[in-house]
Amino acid sequence: METIRNPRVMQQTVREYLQRGHSIGFVPTMGALHDGHMSLVQRCREENDVSVVSIFVNPIQFGPSEDFNRYPRDTEDDVAKLAEAGVDILFMPGVEEMYPEGFATYVEVEHLSDRLCGRFRPGHFRGVATVVTKLLNIVRPARAYFGRKDYQQALIIRQLVRDLDIDTETVVCPTVREPDGLAMSSRNTYLSPRERKAAAVIYKALCRAKEEVLSANGTFAEARVLMEGCLSAEPLVDEVEYASVFDPETLEDICSRDVTIYDKGTVLLAAAVRIGRARLIDNELVDITGRQGSRRS
Ligand code: PAF
Repeated sequence: METIRNPRVMQQTVREYLQRGHSIGFVPTMGALHDGHMSLVQRCREENDVSVVSIFVNPIQFGPSEDFNRYPRDTEDDVAKLAEAGVDILFMPGVEEMYPEGFATYVEVEHLSDRLCGRFRPGHFRGVATVVTKLLNIVRPARAYFGRKDYQQALIIRQLVRDLDIDTETVVCPTVREPDGLAMSSRNTYLSPRERKAAAVIYKALCRAKEEVLSANGTFAEARVLMEGCLSAEPLVDEVEYASVFDPETLEDICSRDVTIYDKGTVLLAAAVRIGRARLIDNELVDITGRQGSRRS
């Protein structure tokens, strides 16, 4: 595996691969790699001639009081995992290379960035959209891979790729879960053993809500109540930032809508909670087309 730190060298290397007719697959990450990341890497390797993974903890997507400084970093372990997985190129730029003095251009995806996590992390998606645009311009992949756990992020990236005419397919891959259902995340390492056990409540809450929206008389409003109730009943959950039912395309909260006249076919159940030092998110996309019956109220 070749490691490249300089964006210009990365661009030159990519140019050579493209001239030879190779397709490039790309997995952008912030490192601290777990099996969720590795599932993206595997898919990337299967579908492309050359696989590129980036590790860059992007300072501009963290708020001033967020965890940029303590975000887990384990480059040695990451490099070993990527080499073992057969990745061709690791792109690992420094902050000064990505944001040199005088950097002044940002990418903002309107509307989608203001909802769900955007309400609690102002500026976060502007930072994500900016760095992903830069990375896609540098790597010029045919396909870029993202996890569904970060559903809102993937939707925003899909939108910016479309709006800015970037010639890359956005591939969104399933969430990888621990045996108790907790979605894999680099931030799970912030949890103490007790908190880690308690964190399984997030997936449990999503499953309860899923049962509700799929049941013949279920309502979106009740699904939200069940989710919030389940999360708040766990003593180690310090805060429920949001837990509701959303339109999977617009991210509009639809918990007050009548399920029997909702015509999109799929709903997004999503939650964000704080447990100890960790802010954790998760979601489930639920196909409700097979649901029968009428709503309860
Ligand atoms: O999901 C992440 O790890 C990051 O938000 C990303 C997409 C690599 C941008 O920094």
